[in-house]
Amino acid sequence: MIQVERFHDTDALYARAVAIIEEVKATGAKTFGLATGGTMEPLYERLCASTIDFSDAVSFNLDEYIGLSETHPESYHYYMQQQLFDQKPFQQSHLPNGFASDLEAEAERYETLLQQYPLDFQLLGIGVNGHIGFNEPGTSFQSTTHVVTLSSSTRAANARFFEDPEEVPTRALTMGIASIMRAKFILLIATGEKKRAVLEKVLMGVSTEEVPATVLANHPRVVILTDLQ
Ligand code: F6R
Repeated sequence: MIQVERFHDTDALYARAVAIIEEVKATGAKTFGLATGGTMEPLYERLCASTIDFSDAVSFNLDEYIGLSETHPESYHYYMQQQLFDQKPFQQSHLPNGFASDLEAEAERYETLLQQYPLDFQLLGIGVNGHIGFNEPGTSFQSTTHVVTLSSSTRAANARFFEDPEEVPTRALTMGIASIMRAKFILLIATGEKKRAVLEKVLMGVSTEEVPATVLANHPRVVILTDLQ
């Protein structure tokens, strides 16, 4: 079931996101699925400034580009280190290794780890094409961690983070839709006009693999925070 909370003020939206994470943590959550992207930056800034302690928790990121080293400034390893982990360390933090020589084996390794540490919580942003993680339109709802070819719309949307748009990797490793749906509680944040059309599709409650985030209508516990009215 999806519960939507709408905010006029993004400060209030992010304060609510922090409060939800604090509450989830206080009620015993130990495994946290995390996301990257522009939407999460204000959240991580606030989490860093909070008193919340993740040192007894384990994190799993949704995805990582293929071909960027952990120290590449646009890799999600680097993003997480800068935005959160340097200031709020977890007991263990996992991301897929986009530099692995055998990518299929890496996807399997990550999925096995996720099954060993079932996610109590999963944070999600949403792509304008409805992607969650890097599960692009058309991805099976049964998918587990896998290698994806990024759509041109996703590469164009993420080009803003790179000096040269040609540098945006063409492939990534991502948790699958089934991997995400196993999380006990999902918090999705969608801000800005660009997300309006896709959010409306998600809230219609009709699931279709053409819009990956519409799968959330089938999950028992989803909260969406948005500044869209
Ligand atoms: C990031 C991720 C993506 C983003 C989505 C929105 O780890 O998995 O699904 O959440 O692309 O990105 P922003 O927040 O930059 O609009």
